[in-house]
Amino acid sequence: MGKLRIRHLLVAGGAGFLGSAFVRDRLRADPEILITVLDALRRPGAQADLADVLDDRRFKLVQGDVRDQAVVDPLAGTVDAIINFASEEFTGSGAADGPAFARTDIEGTAVLLEAARKFQHQRFLLVSSGEVYGPLKSAPNREEDRLTPRSLPASVRAAAETLAGAYHASYGVPVLITRAAGAYGPRQPVNQLVASLITRALSGMTVFVEGNGSATRDYLHVDDEVAGIARVLWKGEPGTAYNVGDGVQISGSQLADTILEACGKPSSLKRLTREGPGWSYAVDPRRMRPLGWDPLVRFPDGIRLTVDWYRRNESWWRLRDVA
Ligand SMILES: NC(=O)c1ccc[n+]([C@@H]2O[C@H](COP(=O)([O-])OP(=O)(O)OC[C@H]3O[C@@H](n4cnc5c(N)ncnc54)[C@H](O)[C@@H]3O)[C@@H](O)[C@H]2O)c1
Repeated sequence: MGKLRIRHLLVAGGAGFLGSAFVRDRLRADPEILITVLDALRRPGAQADLADVLDDRRFKLVQGDVRDQAVVDPLAGTVDAIINFASEEFTGSGAADGPAFARTDIEGTAVLLEAARKFQHQRFLLVSSGEVYGPLKSAPNREEDRLTPRSLPASVRAAAETLAGAYHASYGVPVLITRAAGAYGPRQPVNQLVASLITRALSGMTVFVEGNGSATRDYLHVDDEVAGIARVLWKGEPGTAYNVGDGVQISGSQLADTILEACGKPSSLKRLTREGPGWSYAVDPRRMRPLGWDPLVRFPDGIRLTVDWYRRNESWWRLRDVA
């Protein structure tokens, strides 16, 4: 393959939490890049979240479904790479809709992969997550570890990864995969963990911690996470996966304590649920080092910055319900 030159990028799910941060990061970093976002825009306020880039001549927003080939193909025909952030929303309510997850995450990825094959794109990046490895057994997971997902979102992502692997092996589509730590930061939807805890704490509500609070996971500030994902897109080796994390494990209890302290709320608001599977997750990010990426925002500084953002943008999250 000749020198990589991505001029125009299709960002599926680019109005979401990670996708919109990625778009902002790229428009800031690369004056010549063109970005088209394809997103179903189901969440209230989704379009408003992109208001700061809507007027940028390098940016285009298309409302549509990633599963719809009639929408995807004309867009894919004008770009040289696709990155897929589109994903069914997990509410954590227990009322998980398996078929909806499979349709968005697996069928949607299949439609995008097929377009990447047809139009001979230079790169296809599937944004997956560290949860595909399944609950942590001992040391943080390396990329070659077996995928044994246990949650619904992780299982459909692992299936999408398998599909992407087949497009690479069978058709030579230059596929890359990122398996990232849990993200937090401005504009995180309130049904995702860290934003849920912050908005509950700021509202003076009980902050629930799953199980006995000892299960750990790794977290990354959204700016670091999308910078890592971009690094993989431009510098990664096609046909392989990259763990994007900072190698620091934080327990549920520590997370709640840090958030309550940053919000200036008493620790008495923390309550252990004593329920839930109590799974830990952690990825080993050492494969990212040769790509020249290192996270810049340290936990708990990132949590403090994020709490400040939610404090200053109460109308943003009030519109989106406290989860
Ligand atoms: N948030 C995290 O902590 C985190 C961490 C690691 C990996 N990831 C992965 O990154 C991806 C994106 O996560 P996120 O937090 O940005 O989620 P999000 O829910 O904020 O964004 C997903 C976007 O996909 C869009 N979408 C859903 N169905 C669609 C469809 N059929 N067609 C077009 N668009 C559709 C939604 O409208 C939304 O804008 C997911 O695969 C997730 O597993 C997330």
